[in-house]
Amino acid sequence: MIVKPRVMMQRKIRVGVLFGGQSEEHEVSIRSAQSVIEHLNRDKYEVYPIKIEKSGTWFFNDFQVSPEEIFFSPCVLKKTFDVIFPVLHGPYGEDGTVQGLIELAHLPYVGSDHLSSAMCMDKGVMKDMLSGAGLPTPKSLFLQSFDIEKILGTFAFPLFVKPARLGSSVGISKVHSKEELFSALEESFKYDERIVVEEGIKGQELEVSILGNLDPRASLPGEIIPTHDFYSYEAKYLDENGARFILPAKISAEKTREIQELAIKAYKTMRCEGMARVDFFMEKGGKLLINELNTIPGFTSISLYPKLWEVSGLSYPSLLCELIDLAIQRFNRLKPKMYAFH
Ligand SMILES: Nc1ncnc2c1ncn2[C@@H]1O[C@H](COP(=O)(O)OP(=O)(O)O)[C@@H](O)[C@H]1O
Ligand SMILES: [Mg+2]
Repeated sequence: MIVKPRVMMQRKIRVGVLFGGQSEEHEVSIRSAQSVIEHLNRDKYEVYPIKIEKSGTWFFNDFQVSPEEIFFSPCVLKKTFDVIFPVLHGPYGEDGTVQGLIELAHLPYVGSDHLSSAMCMDKGVMKDMLSGAGLPTPKSLFLQSFDIEKILGTFAFPLFVKPARLGSSVGISKVHSKEELFSALEESFKYDERIVVEEGIKGQELEVSILGNLDPRASLPGEIIPTHDFYSYEAKYLDENGARFILPAKISAEKTREIQELAIKAYKTMRCEGMARVDFFMEKGGKLLINELNTIPGFTSISLYPKLWEVSGLSYPSLLCELIDLAIQRFNRLKPKMYAFH
């Protein structure tokens, strides 16, 4: 009798990397995804890029496909992916829409779920949630009209006007005087029907990377020093000297702990899972204010999210492994509940 060796080859995990997308951050997403694809350990993973063109057309294996074909055609989906890694920034990618689509397909995916993604994308909802939990944020108004009187009665200058649901500083203005206010409101209303107006904070900009599901941990904080009036679209993407980064930030061990604890509280309050970058302002006296949470932060090899993990002792490839493990763990946790009918 011939006895076959009982060595089972462990099958590689098949990762669909979803990137591009229809937002203003299309190009950044391409750069982020290139970096993710490059750093995924090929001993463990088979990698399948799925590109969404700016027009909204999807491509898989160089063929034009519909999201329905990718996610709902039994022959493509079940045979192809074990987990999806959305590397999409901004609306129609980071805002819960794509997350909802993947949830309907009953697949594990990296990052926060549809609800948390949508709440973090909307700066008005995010601020209501954070302040509802007693967490410090800049004073703000969530508006649907040109309510100039209310704005002037609430804030001194400078103030910030932002579309509620966008990123990359698109549509954001720093307003220095009454004369600049109307055009700043017009600019923000170009991008959304709801806007946020905020007091201008004078201080340092600090960012922390968070990783984990229900029991997350925080990286060391980093500091961004924009060389422009604020960290505008130009400073982020058009001017290569638009900002300086100090990694890790030169702040005391005590402040580091405080910011990490606050970032984790914000993460849990917004029901994030997988990852998020939590952005802060620190005023001169040391008071911390939460600016925003990004549920799919930049992932290029020079982006802050992976860089902060690197300076905290976690390499880029290990970070990706952990994110994929977290996606699968969450799926398995929720499976008996959400997917009981499946
Ligand atoms: N209330 C504020 N006070 C001071 N600076 C601000 C304020 N809000 C935003 N900024 C500046 O504008 C940048 C972009 O604003 P942010 O709310 O982070 O929008 P986005 O989601 O587009 O990154 C910040 O990084 C910061 O430089
Ligand atoms: Mg920001």
